[in-house]
Amino acid sequence: MAKLVINNTKKISHINPEIYGHFSEHLGRCIYEGIYVGEDSDIPNVNGMRTDVVEALKEIRIPVLRWPGGCFADEYHWKDGVGPKEKRKKMINTHWGGVVEDNSFGTHEYFELCRQLGCKTYINGNVGSGTVQEMSEWVEYMTFDGVSPMAEERKKNGHEEPWRVDYFGVGNENWGCGGNMRPSYYGDLYRRYQTYVRNYDSDHPIRKICCGANVDDYLWTRGVLDTAFDHAKDEDCHGFMDGLSLHYYVHPEGWKIKGSSTDFDEEVWYKTLGKAWRINELVSKHSIIMDAFDPDQKIGMIVDEWGSWYSCEPGTNPGFLYQQNTIRDALIAGITLNVFNKHSDRVKMANLAQVVNVLQAVILTEGAQMIKTPTYHVFNQYKYHQDSELLSSWIYDPDVVGSGKWTLPKVTESVSEDKDGLITITLGNLSVDESQDIDIELAEGSWQVEKASVVAGEIHAHNRFDAPEEVTEQAFVAYEMKEKGLSAVLAPASVTLIRLKRQGK
Ligand code: AHR
Repeated sequence: MAKLVINNTKKISHINPEIYGHFSEHLGRCIYEGIYVGEDSDIPNVNGMRTDVVEALKEIRIPVLRWPGGCFADEYHWKDGVGPKEKRKKMINTHWGGVVEDNSFGTHEYFELCRQLGCKTYINGNVGSGTVQEMSEWVEYMTFDGVSPMAEERKKNGHEEPWRVDYFGVGNENWGCGGNMRPSYYGDLYRRYQTYVRNYDSDHPIRKICCGANVDDYLWTRGVLDTAFDHAKDEDCHGFMDGLSLHYYVHPEGWKIKGSSTDFDEEVWYKTLGKAWRINELVSKHSIIMDAFDPDQKIGMIVDEWGSWYSCEPGTNPGFLYQQNTIRDALIAGITLNVFNKHSDRVKMANLAQVVNVLQAVILTEGAQMIKTPTYHVFNQYKYHQDSELLSSWIYDPDVVGSGKWTLPKVTESVSEDKDGLITITLGNLSVDESQDIDIELAEGSWQVEKASVVAGEIHAHNRFDAPEEVTEQAFVAYEMKEKGLSAVLAPASVTLIRLKRQGK
């Protein structure tokens, strides 16, 4: 019997809603087909955005959406994507499948999408192949409220009012697809480019995000901060660097082979979850480096690409990164989001890659059909953590699963308290076939269950267009109330949500 001890008198840190963010790139069928079908489509849409997808994302309270890339961002020239659609330039999407990009989804369409979703905006600028002037004019186009060449252009293109840019990424993966730079070179470019990301709206300053490391490239984190941080300190951080990114993908068989999304054995299950669990080590170690420069934690860690990356589905364009999503992905999401909650003193945003039809998507579409993946259901469970306070919690007497290098804690957890005093507990049972009895004890108060749900199934279970509800969020009833909390039985290979409210409330 494991025991989850919750000290609900001790609040650790604020869980930014943006930790539950998403990422949309001009890649495969993410933007086109997955989100944007155009005003003339037979698929129900509002101003070209699929109604089913928008509604599903609102349901999980999508807090922020990153766009337009990814690697695409560093070859994107925003002026090609504004003005009359028939006149927009076409380009080859060299990174992703070599398909023609007709630029029919551009700046205006992105802000319209975020308006419909009611989410914050995160634009990623082009450092790899773009100029300082181009970046500076994009910011002026989007946010300047007054008379200026770019603001006039925006108005001519149909949008009188400026938009709000909440986050702006100064380049993407500049150690790789964004220019193959070295840390000090990028650090200097960051200093220069960010200077011209002007804050025209002082009430809503743009949060600037510096390109951080891939996986365990601690030299990049150190090197970029060495070059770019001095000035940030002078400026008290704000307005110079608000975030430093980190990218981490889980490939069961490594970057080259990757591995199937649906065909795996028990050993690969634990190996994959072990790799997901590694995010804890990565966040901790990058945090140590950041702490040395920024002990007051003014700069957020922004994990703006994370998730599973498998071999693409047989018969699909390899450049489109389309993959299925099983119970294993539900566990990857559960493990990772618990880690982000636990590190919410430093992690201020995270963006699952990617929102629709690409990598560990929450939604898959085929023509007019749409399905929600197991990962979607986990985001629906975890949405209650958004904007809550992380509570001190730990597992007493933990069990382990797997073996050798991939020996893992059997149960992962995080706990938070929201503004109304409700407590959210999210638990993952990583075992393929063993349930887990668990006592959940709170330091203070008498509690009752307000809502409880579970996402569980045989480890390969997934939703298909001809079987869209193989994996769903089910009511969780395997619990019994106790004096100081409750005892529960966690199903094998499951993610469980328990929401508690004070008795009598
Ligand atoms: O998400 C797919 C790609 O992965 C992104 O374009 C890039 O930033 C990363 O390498």
